[in-house]
Amino acid sequence: MQWGEQAPGRPLWRQVLGRVLEQRQVGPNSYLLGLQQPWLAEAGRPGQFVHVRCGQGRDPLLRRPLSLFGVDPGEGRVELLYQVVGRGTALLSGLRPGMDVDLMGPLGRGFPRPPDGEGLCLVAGGLGVAPLVPAAQAWGAGRRVLALVGADTAAELLPEVQRRLVEAGAEVQLATMDGSRGTPGPVTDLLEGAIAREADAGRTGGWVVFACGPSAMLRRTAALAQSAGWPCYLCLEARMGCGVGACAGCAWPAAPDRPGGRFVRVCRDGPVFLAQEVGWWE
Ligand SMILES: Cc1cc2nc3c(=O)[nH]c(=O)nc-3n(C[C@H](O)[C@H](O)[C@H](O)COP(=O)(O)OP(=O)(O)OC[C@H]3O[C@@H](n4cnc5c(N)ncnc54)[C@H](O)[C@@H]3O)c2cc1C
Ligand code: FES
Repeated sequence: MQWGEQAPGRPLWRQVLGRVLEQRQVGPNSYLLGLQQPWLAEAGRPGQFVHVRCGQGRDPLLRRPLSLFGVDPGEGRVELLYQVVGRGTALLSGLRPGMDVDLMGPLGRGFPRPPDGEGLCLVAGGLGVAPLVPAAQAWGAGRRVLALVGADTAAELLPEVQRRLVEAGAEVQLATMDGSRGTPGPVTDLLEGAIAREADAGRTGGWVVFACGPSAMLRRTAALAQSAGWPCYLCLEARMGCGVGACAGCAWPAAPDRPGGRFVRVCRDGPVFLAQEVGWWE
């Protein structure tokens, strides 16, 4: 997988058709969708997403956002990793090789390149791991990458994901809420442990955190990173309408001191934000 850098300014996107190359079940309820789509393979960056028309007609009316999980510009191939949670993703799982899917992308602002020499700490909750694997692939070479991957149960920890993280040179640590694999409890406990180990070794800083997952997990991650003085970027997940900044359907509270209004639009201002830029609903 070869990822390029995000160009400054607003990303260019197109509405394109992707031809299904592969639909592979990679977990109890999770699928990897491989598509022939040279534009997205060339233009996509870690943390960006595509807005997918899941049905053939108007049902469901709204597209569904999915992160770019893999790109191969040489082959013109892109990959999406998704979990079936409702009608849209259930329809996606019915796609078969040779069928076409309507996509808008690449959309949004992805992750920034971490400064040279800084370690990259990835914190993933559930399918939130999808945009983080590309970050390890793009920027893992020549730096320490610590991937903290959490899920509710062992079955939801996808071997495909762990394989790619290890291939990218990451040290992978696992956590499950039910204790069936890895450290029992939330993935943020692993982050707390990593921060404590660095402090015990007398090291301050030197790490950048990229996180994606449920809101409560992100909030805790941001707080822990702030206490350690580690810069932290969050990839937010909001329900979306247009996907391009026109409807405010993806509004998320902005941090009180952020210029430009009380809300950010996750689709256009993000989905990746510096943790200090955003607030929380609850
Ligand atoms: C930028 C972005 C990137 C994403 N990347 C991925 C990805 O790579 N892989 C993946 O599996 N999912 C990803 N998601 C989440 C994905 O978009 C939703 O799971 C999907 O839209 C659900 O559609 P559905 O029709 O199947 O479910 P629906 O019928 O619309 O909803 C089913 C259930 O899921 C909840 N839900 C739906 N969408 C969201 C959401 N965005 N955030 C929180 N809860 C939601 C609903 O509240 C409901 O309980 C991403 C979301 C965003 C915003
Ligand atoms: S989904 Fe319409 S503004 Fe973000």
